[in-house]
Amino acid sequence: DHSIPVIAIDGPTASGKGTIAGRVARELGYNYLDSGAIYRVLAVAALAHGLFPESESDLRKLDALAASLPVEFRADRIYLGGKDVTESIRSEEAGTMASRLAVIPSLRGHLLQRQRDFRRGSGLVADGRDMGSVVFPDAALKVFLTASAQTRAERRHRQLIERGESADLAVILADLQARDKRDTERAVAPLKPCEGAHVLDCSDMSIDEVVNTVKAWYLKA
Ligand code: CDP
Ligand code: CDP
Repeated sequence: DHSIPVIAIDGPTASGKGTIAGRVARELGYNYLDSGAIYRVLAVAALAHGLFPESESDLRKLDALAASLPVEFRADRIYLGGKDVTESIRSEEAGTMASRLAVIPSLRGHLLQRQRDFRRGSGLVADGRDMGSVVFPDAALKVFLTASAQTRAERRHRQLIERGESADLAVILADLQARDKRDTERAVAPLKPCEGAHVLDCSDMSIDEVVNTVKAWYLKA
């Protein structure tokens, strides 16, 4: 329904998209879409089936998997075929596989409607890479949220430590730069600010400052 307003928040990994989009959604009473989670669920399913996008025959199976992906979002938990995958989709392995699958146009196409289905209720805040350009081109506000690679690596590092996982800052920085490169250079829905996007570098901003900036832009839009 095009009359339901959308706030699109796109940007590179660990820029703070999920944190900001979730907060803005809660404060406005809007729905929230973490589109990256859908790519990550597909990645976990692909890993579980041992499917790799570089193989022609696997690719056909991946297409079928994406077209009928049994993913469910219920009360802040994410399920794949009834199994709770909320934590397992956050692994670096799942993130890397997600970005390898995300370069394939047919797979992206299969996930399109699933993302648009989140547009219900009084509004939607959606975060990802192509929310403003492809999935919700008619969004009321488009934000490209970014931060320096060093800052993003440090934020991701802190998150992993807080989760009790071992993490090496240099490895995280290298992975993040590799993922940025793949996301930026792909032919379909590359990572870059789309037409009409407000670019916000939040390297030196607190979460509150970013949330308030986005809300102020939205109320003026
Ligand atoms: O969703 P995305 O990968 O873009 O990032 P995130 O998981 O929302 O944020 C990565 C980390 O950065 C989280 O721990 C946030 O709390 C933190 N963050 C921050 O310290 N300052 C900001 N202005 C934005 C996010
Ligand atoms: O949390 P983080 O920002 O690292 O990644 P994510 O948003 O969970 O997305 C994982 C991967 O899925 C990204 O590296 C992208 O390659 C892909 N993705 C995408 O292509 N389009 C989206 N709308 C969301 C994610």
